[in-house]
Amino acid sequence: MNFSYSNKTQIQFGENSISSIETLIPTDKKVLVIYGGGSIKSNGVYDQVSNALKNHVWLEFSGVESNPTIETLDKAVALARNENADFILAVGGGSVIDGSKYVAAAICYDGEGWDILTGKHQVTKAIPLGTILTLPATGSESNAAAVITKKSTQDKLAFMNPNVLPVFAVLDPNVIKTLPERQLINGIVDAFVHVCEQYLTIKTDSWVQEGYAEVLLRSLIRLAKDYQHRDSSKWRNNLMWTANQALNGLIGTGGPQDWATHMIGHELTAHYGVDHARTLALVQPSLLRNQIEVKKDKLEQMGANVFDLPESDTLALDTVDAIEALYNSLGVATHLKDANIDAVEAIPTILNSLEKHGAVALGEHQAITLKVTQAILESAA
Ligand code: NZQ
Ligand code: ZN
Repeated sequence: MNFSYSNKTQIQFGENSISSIETLIPTDKKVLVIYGGGSIKSNGVYDQVSNALKNHVWLEFSGVESNPTIETLDKAVALARNENADFILAVGGGSVIDGSKYVAAAICYDGEGWDILTGKHQVTKAIPLGTILTLPATGSESNAAAVITKKSTQDKLAFMNPNVLPVFAVLDPNVIKTLPERQLINGIVDAFVHVCEQYLTIKTDSWVQEGYAEVLLRSLIRLAKDYQHRDSSKWRNNLMWTANQALNGLIGTGGPQDWATHMIGHELTAHYGVDHARTLALVQPSLLRNQIEVKKDKLEQMGANVFDLPESDTLALDTVDAIEALYNSLGVATHLKDANIDAVEAIPTILNSLEKHGAVALGEHQAITLKVTQAILESAA
C-alpha cells in the first residue's frame, strides 16, 4: 500500500455554523457568492450568509443550475474578472460547488474554459474557494473534483485538481430541513455508490480503508431504514457527515477504484436529464451482476460485514440483490424503463458518447469495454 494523502479543507460542522464564515473568510478579500436557483433565498440561508458577511465586500451570482453548465458558469467568470473578485463562496449542493470550482480555476486561465474539462489545460492556479453545503450527497464540499456540462454538445465531463479543493466547508445540518424528499433520497444513494466505487473492487488487506467504508455503508443503510425519523437532528447530522466522508478521498487511498457506474451515469444525465444519483441506481445493480466474478470476494465481504447476510454459495449475488432492494425501498428505480428511458434508443446514444469521451475501458481492471457496457445497459433495460 503506497499513497500520499492530504485533505486540507477545514470542516465547520454543526447547527447554526454558517455564521463562522465571518472569520473563515479574510476581510481583505472581495467575495463572489455563487448560488443556484434560489432555494437559499426562501430557507433563510441567504440571510444568514449576508449577515455573516456584513464586514466583507461581496457580490453575488445566482442561477447555477443542477448539472451546472459551462454556458452559465462562464458568465460568473466574466463577472468575477470585471469585479476583481479574489474569493469565491459557493452556497448550495454539488452543482453550485462544482460550478464554483470551475469558476475559481477558469478565472486564472485565459484560454477556452472547456480545456479544463478535456484536460487540454492542467489547472495550476485558482482563486480560493469556501463552501456552505445545502445538500449532503456528492462530497464536493471537501474534495477536489467537479463535474461540468456543456449544454450545446451534451457533454458532461469531470476534472480533479488540488488547486480547487475548498479551503473550508460549512456543514450545518439544519439547512437540509427544506430539502425536497427526492433530493434527500438522492443524497443517500449517491453517497452509497461513492463508497461502493472505492470499496467494491478487489481485496486490499487495507483494514482501515475497508473497515471505514463498511461503517459508512452501514450508516447509510441505517439512514434509509430510519427514513421516517428524517426530521430528527440525529438523522440529519449523520447523513451530512456520512455523505461528506464517503467522498473526501480517505477510503480510496492506496487501493483500486472503479467509477464505471459514475462514468455511464453521467452520460444518462447528459442525454436524458436524469438526476445524478438516480442514474447510478439504474446502472449499478446490472453492472455488479455483470462483473460478479471479478468482484465476488468483495461482494461476499460486503454481504457479511454490511448487510449481515448468511454464508452461502450465492452470497455475492445476494449482496447485489440487497443493494438493489435498498434503492427500491427508497422508491428509486433500478431499470431504465422505470425512469422512462427507452433502452433501444438510449443504448447506442450512451455508447457513442462514451466512445467520444474515451471511456472505453472502465472499472478497476479497465475491463468494461463498450461491448460490456452494452450488455450492462441491456440487462438494466
Ligand atoms: O438550485 P437550488 O435552488 O440551490 O436548488 C437545488 C437543486 O434544485 C436543491 N437544493 C439544494 N439544497 C437545498 C435545495 N432545495 C431546498 N433546500 C435545500 N437546502 O436541490 C436541487 C439539486 O441540487 P444539486 O446541487 O444539483 O444536487 P447534488 O448535490 O446532488 O449535485 C449533483 C451534481 O454533482 C455532481 C453531479 O454529477 C451533479 O452534476 N457530482 C459531483 C461530485 C464531486 N464534485 O465530487 C461527485 C458526484 O459523484 C457527482 O458526479
Ligand atoms: Zn456521485
